[in-house]
Amino acid sequence: MRFLITAGPTREPIDPVRYISNRSSGKMGYAIAEAALAQEHDVMLISGPVNLEPPHKAKLISVLNSEEMFEAVHRHANQCDICILCAAVADYKPANVSPTKIKKCGEKFSLELIPTRDILDSLGRQLDRQFVLVGFAAETDHVEENAAKKLRAKNCDIMIANDVSSPNSAMESDVNEVTILFRNGEKKKISRAPKKIIARDLVKIFSNFATKMFDKKNVMIN
Ligand code: C5P
Repeated sequence: MRFLITAGPTREPIDPVRYISNRSSGKMGYAIAEAALAQEHDVMLISGPVNLEPPHKAKLISVLNSEEMFEAVHRHANQCDICILCAAVADYKPANVSPTKIKKCGEKFSLELIPTRDILDSLGRQLDRQFVLVGFAAETDHVEENAAKKLRAKNCDIMIANDVSSPNSAMESDVNEVTILFRNGEKKKISRAPKKIIARDLVKIFSNFATKMFDKKNVMIN
């Protein structure tokens, strides 16, 4: 199957030397890319700036900000069977980007922020989509409840809930613990394990889901 995977953070520029970003390391997305390749799938990895070696058999598209990630995902999503949006895209970006370095003035300074475009939501609105849509929800509280709300709001097929409340949880870490929520209300837990092991299980779950979904569509067409 053809996988599209987004990974890592985005950087939203403030001026030529500053940006807004987050602590995402990209490890989960890269581990999913490796696991998918190991299971003989094709992988397009759309990655924000990370310090990781990309799996060499993946087609890599490197992006910096949320707009570039949005464009890259939309250019390729319809040629994929499974889109996994694992990137920690910034939710807000500066309303204006200064072309020159903003000077320190020693007084209070505020920055006007506007929402970025939500890539997952935009794919969820594509009601005739032919790919399985998977989102990730990094939550600090009411983890499953919030993830289930996101699954419905963004019209995904599968949402992976991550607890990022403790300092050694999902973000930046080599280990993770996830709950997989399906759109029919079913759920599965994968208990604490290295991200590489979790990724292997996730890839199996995604490809089984896709096989069932595509088989059902074929039966309906025939
Ligand atoms: O709403 P929230 O940002 O928590 O949702 C997380 C999910 O949405 C992740 O799958 C993330 O990749 C995706 N997302 C996105 N575009 C954004 C913000 C989040 O694709 N601008």
